[in-house]
Amino acid sequence: MPKLITFENYTDMCKKAACIIASQIIMKENSVLGLATGSTPIGIYELLSKWCARGDLDFSKVRTVNLDEYCGLPAGHDQSYRYFMNKRLFDNVNIDKNNTYVPNGLAPDANKEGGNYDKLIELLGGIDLQLLGIGHNGHIGFNEPSDVFISVTHRVELTQETISANARFFNDISQVPKTAITMGLRGIMNAKKILLAANGESKKDIIEKVLNGRVTPKVPASVLQLHPDVTILYSKA
Ligand code: PGA
Repeated sequence: MPKLITFENYTDMCKKAACIIASQIIMKENSVLGLATGSTPIGIYELLSKWCARGDLDFSKVRTVNLDEYCGLPAGHDQSYRYFMNKRLFDNVNIDKNNTYVPNGLAPDANKEGGNYDKLIELLGGIDLQLLGIGHNGHIGFNEPSDVFISVTHRVELTQETISANARFFNDISQVPKTAITMGLRGIMNAKKILLAANGESKKDIIEKVLNGRVTPKVPASVLQLHPDVTILYSKA
């Protein structure tokens, strides 16, 4: 069962998450980190950037694979997840950008891109530590509620709920892409360790469902109950 650690505030949660990621890098300098975007990891990446800048953390051998990317947004678009990762982390640490991977949202065949992405993860030796956020509907990466668990990296139609939730990052909801490429649930579940971070009262119910509800593709994150090493960090505010 996932282990739950609750925090009174976001700052303390970020500190804990950054410490767990930093210790992973310290224990295995060429770790493969699975990384997430969204608002929740921002404070975590800020701390990792700070620790690296002052010489306490070394990303030079770290490899990273991101969970997902919008279809149709070029890497340089300020709402693409590649852009987010560059700004929030990669530009601020001594990582070799050639060792950072984000699915290509412009690939002409997103499912083919997905197959290549799964092979890449395998070639890297699998993910040592996967960081996850969670959507209010229980999505992880962009694995939206569905009738079946989809294991492979694939193209996904975003739900209206996700489009609305992400509209805050765009000038207008009509600009939010309707499709994305996401790592599948096998890629996530094959990670050796999983760290899920969730922030705020609005995520309380979904975390409760993930921990104590039925394992069902209607709540994709519920599958984490079947993983042997999951830590959920939840901050109330
Ligand atoms: P958030 O998004 O961190 O911005 O809440 C998480 C997610 O949708 O996966």
